[in-house]
Amino acid sequence: MDNMQHFLYGGDYNPNQWDKTIWQEDLDFFEEARINSATINVFSWAKIQPSEEEYDFNELDEVIEMLSKHKNYIVLATSTAALPAWMFKKYPEVGRTDFEGRRHKFGQRHNACPNSLVYQKYAKRLAGKLAERYGRNPNIAYWHVNNEYGGECFCENCEAAFRVWLKKKYKTIEALNKAWNLEFWGHTVYEWDEVVLPNALSEGISYEKTAFAGISIDYRRFNSDSMLENFKMERDAIRKYDLVTPITTNLMGTYRYLDYFKWAKEMDIVSWDNYPAYNTPWSLTAMRHDLMRGLKQAPFMLMEQTPSQQNWQPYNSLKKPGQMRAQSYQTIAHGSNTIQYFQLRRSIGGCEKFHGAVIAHSGSAETRVFKEVKALGKEIEKIGEKILATQNKSEVALIFDWDNYWALEYTSGPNKDLKYIDQVHQVYQYFYNQNISVDFVSTEDELSGYKLVAAPVLYMVTEGLKQRLEAYVKDGGTLVTGFMSGIVDSSDNVHLGGYPGPLRKLTGIWVEEIDALAPEQFNEVSFSKGPIGKGALLSDVIHLEGAEALAHFTSNFYKGHPAATVNFFERGRVYYYGTQLDEESLKLFLDEAAEQAKVDKRFSDTPLEITRRFSREETFIFIINLTQKNHSVPQKLIGKKDILTGSILEENQLLTPNEVRIIVE
Ligand code: GLA
Ligand code: ZN
Repeated sequence: MDNMQHFLYGGDYNPNQWDKTIWQEDLDFFEEARINSATINVFSWAKIQPSEEEYDFNELDEVIEMLSKHKNYIVLATSTAALPAWMFKKYPEVGRTDFEGRRHKFGQRHNACPNSLVYQKYAKRLAGKLAERYGRNPNIAYWHVNNEYGGECFCENCEAAFRVWLKKKYKTIEALNKAWNLEFWGHTVYEWDEVVLPNALSEGISYEKTAFAGISIDYRRFNSDSMLENFKMERDAIRKYDLVTPITTNLMGTYRYLDYFKWAKEMDIVSWDNYPAYNTPWSLTAMRHDLMRGLKQAPFMLMEQTPSQQNWQPYNSLKKPGQMRAQSYQTIAHGSNTIQYFQLRRSIGGCEKFHGAVIAHSGSAETRVFKEVKALGKEIEKIGEKILATQNKSEVALIFDWDNYWALEYTSGPNKDLKYIDQVHQVYQYFYNQNISVDFVSTEDELSGYKLVAAPVLYMVTEGLKQRLEAYVKDGGTLVTGFMSGIVDSSDNVHLGGYPGPLRKLTGIWVEEIDALAPEQFNEVSFSKGPIGKGALLSDVIHLEGAEALAHFTSNFYKGHPAATVNFFERGRVYYYGTQLDEESLKLFLDEAAEQAKVDKRFSDTPLEITRRFSREETFIFIINLTQKNHSVPQKLIGKKDILTGSILEENQLLTPNEVRIIVE
């Protein structure tokens, strides 16, 4: 099903918003910029189905014919992400009800109730009709179902469907009461229809806080599953007519509300939209790419990025000259097999009129942005296909888990500032800063191939995960985990018998209490190796049960207690940090773990980003200067040839900000 033989370079294209006289101009621009693909029909439902009974594919036929003639690869979307007005008018239930309980009227997008049978009926029918009509066109390279699935619905249809989902999961009402610990506050339910969905009118304290995490986590799972069912429904409707073209939907990186590991199993290929803000650290963008690659442990598509500006951030800075190129190579280096823009031509009205595009309002090829897009297009034309034969490889894995994300952040206490992505990013950043490649894995993935597995804030631990972690360490693996780990089961009920519950034997420690530190507070942490660092956010009060201390607290009433430990467990080791260490201390701690695990650090001594993709015969080394200063390339790479320019990397030659070199060995 993987037909990635061509490196797609293109993006979202909405000729339907334009007069036909513009279309030919567009094609000329595409050719000039080496754009070879267009994502079409993303928001055209109202156009191709003007009423309940009527379908009109005339314009889409023309667009597809035009692009096909012009040998453009088409990413064909199904248009179901924004509902037509007639549907709202006749069937108000297709719209969503929000957390406050307000039923929404016609407006905006990504606005369908996933459990509306009317929505399902028409979305499925549309996907089927599109596949029937266009499924055999060889220019259709990918199907793009819907668009950025997301959000949540809290309507009565969803409530009814939630009860069905719960019955299937728990079988008996007793099991449900137990799982949600409903004895607390006397919330016991006796009949299934006494269960209400957790919004602001019931258990929801605020959108992010809840009186019963068990209910709210299940509702997240249910909502993610409901939308996934929507995706599968369209996918299967397409498959009736088109058995081969890969089907995707565009994901959103670390987006909170959908369990992307579960989604990826249903997708032929992962695609995602990358929109860093002006101040997003490069490490966070790299992390998101790696997470997207990890969903299927395979290359992905960059479905959207802006060539320069956005409109929906608070501050929509221009990408500086060279920045878009550097960012594109970072994307490829971390596993993307496409570069696609949102969008190809800038719209004239609506909230995205200030969103960057390949073709600006001036309609001129003499823009900085167009020239940069064209220059990159030429390079990709040259090297794109070779890159497709390569894959990333890592010795380090980082466990990421959406259930855990939801549970950790729903939990009330101990510290409101504890955020899942922050914590994962801090650990990721250590590896990123040293150019150590990281694979993101789920709690179900195989770990045995990795030298080191990091599992920060592994708050929710099931029996299965405990066994997998133990087996990994027993076999000689190195596990790194830390505070707020091993606390609850899959229903957010605490594992009794002392923290970190199921990880207690593995870590060789008992955490008696967990202290919360306000932003202005910190504890001193003294490492046996010398330096004194700082611990913030949370501090575990740790007792050793077989582990050795690597650092101690030297302040607060628990001074003298360990702050970081290592436990030798059969043939492996488990490192544990009991507080949020400052960057330097975290480095010291993780250096030790990485060294013991013999993790390859060949490019760790440079501020340049260096990432590798491998084929059986070749290694592509991407060297990118994402800093604000000039830097020389590492000694090891001097004398090698850059495939972009054909020039040899020389000693004392400096890479200026945003410069890129690619070496093939
Ligand atoms: C999202 C959407 C696009 C567009 C861009 C703008 O990624 O999928 O339709 O709105 O944002 O940044
Ligand atoms: Zn609903």
